[in-house]
Amino acid sequence: MNRNRRNRPKNWTNWLRTKTFGLVALISVALITISACSSGPAPTATAEVGISPELVTDYIHTVLEADRTAYTKHVISRLTKLEGKEKPDGVVDAEATEAWKETGGVPLPAQMFRLGSEIALEADTFTYGLISSWNINDNQAPRNEFEKTAMKQVEETSEPYKDFQEIAGQRYYSALYPDVAVAEACVTCHNEHPVHKERYPDKVFVLGDVMGGVMINLPLGSS
Ligand code: HEC
Repeated sequence: MNRNRRNRPKNWTNWLRTKTFGLVALISVALITISACSSGPAPTATAEVGISPELVTDYIHTVLEADRTAYTKHVISRLTKLEGKEKPDGVVDAEATEAWKETGGVPLPAQMFRLGSEIALEADTFTYGLISSWNINDNQAPRNEFEKTAMKQVEETSEPYKDFQEIAGQRYYSALYPDVAVAEACVTCHNEHPVHKERYPDKVFVLGDVMGGVMINLPLGSS
């Protein structure tokens, strides 16, 4: 109490002067801080936010993979027939078959994936698709040098392969993600497929093999 009294200004002019000085000092500090912030290096709030192409392909791949898994798990696995074979745990009376259009069946996961990619093509933004060194569908072979190199690397490492490439003067950031035999059905259906047997009689897939890859191409503009 005494100490407070001692520190208190003697009269009101002194009191006012002290308060005014304090207020001016406070405002000055605030102004200096504001101007320092606005003239300094680009503040975070207004900085341009860029996403690396690598992250973009990772995001796209996550969605593609999620949709494919959901379709396999929640549609295909509930059907009573898979390519001519009865499925005892099936609850929906339908068959998933390559000839789905002709037989009134349901498309296989790889076909569903391709149907989606064909629709996405109409948006004219980026492209994606399945490829494999042991492709059943002719359109799903690794096409150019990039895809051939990428497919080999992915088969060897089971890791995604990502790089820039140029096709007809157009620059792309491209990424190939491994497509792995996660279920016995992947292995048996491919190994027993007539096209596979004819083209690759020595290739017998086993569980865990990289069977192909999901290719994503992001156009980056002309060079
Ligand atoms: C019931 C049969 C069947 C099952 C099960 C199946 N596939 Fe396929 N797969 C096919 C057929 C048929 C194609 C070619 C379809 C098309 O795109 O025209 C194909 C296409 C592919 C392709 C593209 C290259 C190619 O062969 O044309 C990859 C990669 C692939 N499948 C991987 C898998 C994986 C991984 C699984 C399991 C998660 C799987 N498949 C399950 C029949 C099957």
